[in-house]
Amino acid sequence: MTADALRTQEGAPAARIIGIGTYRPARLVGNDEISTHIDSSDAWIRQRSGIVSRRFATDGDTVVTMAAAAATKAMDQAGIDPTDIGMVLLASMSHLEQAPAAAPRVAHLIGADAAAATDIGAACAGFCYALALADSLVRSGSVGHVLVIGSEKMTDIVDRTDRQTAFIFGDGAGAVVVGPAGTPGIGPVVWGADGSRHGLIAHNRSWLETREQHAPWPVLRMAGPEVFRWAALKVPEISRQALNAAGIDAGDLAAFIPHQANARIVDVAARALKLPPHVVVAKDIVESGNTSAASIPLAMDSLLSMDAGLSGGHALLVGFGAGLVHAAQVVTLP
Ligand code: UT7
Repeated sequence: MTADALRTQEGAPAARIIGIGTYRPARLVGNDEISTHIDSSDAWIRQRSGIVSRRFATDGDTVVTMAAAAATKAMDQAGIDPTDIGMVLLASMSHLEQAPAAAPRVAHLIGADAAAATDIGAACAGFCYALALADSLVRSGSVGHVLVIGSEKMTDIVDRTDRQTAFIFGDGAGAVVVGPAGTPGIGPVVWGADGSRHGLIAHNRSWLETREQHAPWPVLRMAGPEVFRWAALKVPEISRQALNAAGIDAGDLAAFIPHQANARIVDVAARALKLPPHVVVAKDIVESGNTSAASIPLAMDSLLSMDAGLSGGHALLVGFGAGLVHAAQVVTLP
């Protein structure tokens, strides 16, 4: 039997980011407070990670509420009505409920009730993963506008007494609206995963152990130095591939916005890429810590707030983290 060919949708010629918004929780936490729970110091944390402070969610803040706040601002900036959103993609590693996903609740809270909505689990690469999917969705014609959100309440999954992770992570959310464009504003994604090294950043026990053996709450553990060495090589490698794929050179960039995992990783990558002096390098980690899937949109918004002239320039985004997973692409800044 020969079936008739299926009809397909007509997509947009290209996609781009048309608006950005963020939510930074009110509670600012310095290194001295962190060091009351671990054997550490302000000087050590600054020197080894670059972090001076981070934001911690307060009681009313959840992955869902922070995502909704950032998304509302992104839609305002884009001049888009919630009813125009066809898909909400929420990247997070700290939404605690197995079901339902956070994205449908976010869509409802912001008034995007007509949108499809789902979560993306790609840890600190989640924003870049979701952005790549949004680009494809808009170009395929499946959706007109996509909300891409990174939202994290890392304080729910980090052990404040763990010396390797307690000082690194912070909470917050960032969102962008991706919409149709005449010329490409999101370059090809370079991405991948290495599940053989899943144990390097992982929960220390399963929910089953917690239920069946009354074990404590699962928390995140990280083999810091090993992850650092991987990232120091991987970030420059996939950055070069993303630049090649987009058909531009490092000199054509206005900004370099890698995941804010550690200021030293950012510096190592910027040096390896031989970025010319005019390329602004994101260092939002200094004030926000590592906010996992939220770190790239938070850092992007921070750069654009400091220098509106970056708008319309090219930025290289690089996400990497637990999985292990990685993703990089060049975008045109909103
Ligand atoms: O977001 C997902 C991806 N994540 C990353 O990319 C994170 C990558 N890793 C890192 O950023 C770094 O490995 C850390 C910031 C986590 C740790 O920095 P490090 O320079 O790799 O420290 P280390 O674990 O190699 O420890 C160096 C020294 C040790 O002391 P000795 O043996 O040299 O005397 C540690 O005991 O620092 C000590 N140390 C600390 N000292 C004060 C380790 N943690 C601490 C601490 N405070 N919190």
